[in-house]
Amino acid sequence: MQDGLLGCLWYRRASMRQHEGLGVKSVIITFAGSTRRQSLNKMLAISAAVEAKRLGAEALFVDLAEYPLPLYNEDFEDLEGIPANALALGELIRHADGLFIASPEYNGAYSALLKNMLDWLSRIDRNILSRPTAIASASPGRRGGANGLDALRAVLEHMRAPVMVHQLSVPNADVALNGSNGVDANTTEAIRDVIGSLLRQSQLAKSSVTAA
Ligand SMILES: Cc1cc2nc3c(=O)[nH]c(=O)nc-3n(C[C@H](O)[C@H](O)[C@H](O)COP(=O)(O)O)c2cc1C
Repeated sequence: MQDGLLGCLWYRRASMRQHEGLGVKSVIITFAGSTRRQSLNKMLAISAAVEAKRLGAEALFVDLAEYPLPLYNEDFEDLEGIPANALALGELIRHADGLFIASPEYNGAYSALLKNMLDWLSRIDRNILSRPTAIASASPGRRGGANGLDALRAVLEHMRAPVMVHQLSVPNADVALNGSNGVDANTTEAIRDVIGSLLRQSQLAKSSVTAA
């Protein structure tokens, strides 16, 4: 993981305090469906937050390793309620104008970690994801984990997230995101493009809420 990227972001466990006083700028939350220390999808989500900041947004990378969750089970919820970490993630997402979600592909689908988080979020509020959302994947393989994104899109749309058509898969991501010079120029440009689309959608959604 690159210290330079991490240094310019809020990335440790985030608290709502960090959102106090935010103005008209769009707030973009990025996260990855992997908690691996050297996760390529975390690198992608961090780079997306960096580009969002460069384009004038407030950006927060949320590391799901900081929010461990039990595997969803209705008996558990009946006994214990919704875990504090799920509620904390829900609060962060409620304050976001747009989401950027990067997931690994595992055997043709997106990660179980991400599905579990989404299942818990759905227990807080069925509309919690109703904000512009960009999806992405990164893999050392030639397709960049793209196969997992169809299923991710379907689940997010089921949860009423307006998922942008513009999505991103980074092939050969061990080199593209983590080469000797960090993120390569083509990948940076592709990330900036998708984040630019997300910011436009977020601003449109914000202005339609203000006008209503
Ligand atoms: C169980 C397992 C299944 C995988 N299946 C796929 C796959 O179907 N397609 C693919 O491109 N990569 C696959 N990979 C490789 C992962 O995409 C790769 O390890 C990726 O870097 C993991 O994401 P991360 O770096 O964000 O942790 C698989 C890896 C594992 C451990």
